[in-house]
Amino acid sequence: MDSSFQSGDPATFHQSLPFTPSRTNTPAIQHTLLMCKPTLYDVNYVINPWMSGNLGKSIRAHAMQQWQSLYDALSRLAEVVLIEPVLGSPDMVFTANAGLAREGRVAISSFFHPERQAEEQHFRRWFVDAGYKIIDLARETPFEGEGDALFSADGARLWVGYGSRTLQSSHATLREVWNVEVSSLHLIDPRFYHLDTCFAPLEDGSLLYYPAAFDEPSRALIESFYSLDRRIAVTEADALRFACNAVNIDQTIVLNRISPELEATLRASGFNVIQVELDEFLKAGGAAKCLVMKLTPGLAN
Ligand code: ARG
Repeated sequence: MDSSFQSGDPATFHQSLPFTPSRTNTPAIQHTLLMCKPTLYDVNYVINPWMSGNLGKSIRAHAMQQWQSLYDALSRLAEVVLIEPVLGSPDMVFTANAGLAREGRVAISSFFHPERQAEEQHFRRWFVDAGYKIIDLARETPFEGEGDALFSADGARLWVGYGSRTLQSSHATLREVWNVEVSSLHLIDPRFYHLDTCFAPLEDGSLLYYPAAFDEPSRALIESFYSLDRRIAVTEADALRFACNAVNIDQTIVLNRISPELEATLRASGFNVIQVELDEFLKAGGAAKCLVMKLTPGLAN
């Protein structure tokens, strides 16, 4: 992958607007996010193109600093709850892949790659303890959670990716569980192997996305739901910075470093933009959104 953004300074945190403490900007809904400290994070297998060439190259101390910056930024916007990392599951830090939760129910991921399948039991246990009703997906129908399944801002539609990880055969279960419209999107670029690497429905009803990651029918489907003025298409350079892997809470977007042009576009759309250096996680093919699972509207109990 492009090494120019994989090296560089250790974790730094800068923001494009003076920070508004959450107390003076109290959101209507208290968002709850699930994260996992990178205490045991590593790149020690290759299951996506970002990991190849990065085996053993992640620097734990930098990862800890960068994760802490992300955690600090998000803690000002939402409640953050943690799951303990487990030895042998270095990708557990990417909690977006734990499953998909809504209304007290969680569809636990059924990972495509054996390398991540041990995580399923750890995430499952956490959700059992938190009082969720558990939905297990069959091994034959891989599903990688919120990494591949994102609700539209109004909650009426579930956009679900398929291609290299989640298979389309899992989508029917999701439709049944939440009785929601499911729109399937075909991911065709191996660098953007999860939906959340190239597609982010924003809370104001617009969409941040990288069009070339999708096949033509999927692009047409996206365009039929988001009019031109509601679509923010990012360049390949920003897509490779994981600009679409963004955590949007109310008017704030938290993400890896992006171009000044994209930052200006997001600000012009009314968003606060908080950029957190996350290059240690790009080595494994993840950034801000991958490190977070949204549990809104709150824990089950
Ligand atoms: N190394 C992890 C994998 O390949 C990264 C997961 C990133 N997560 C995400 N939601 N995109 O599975």
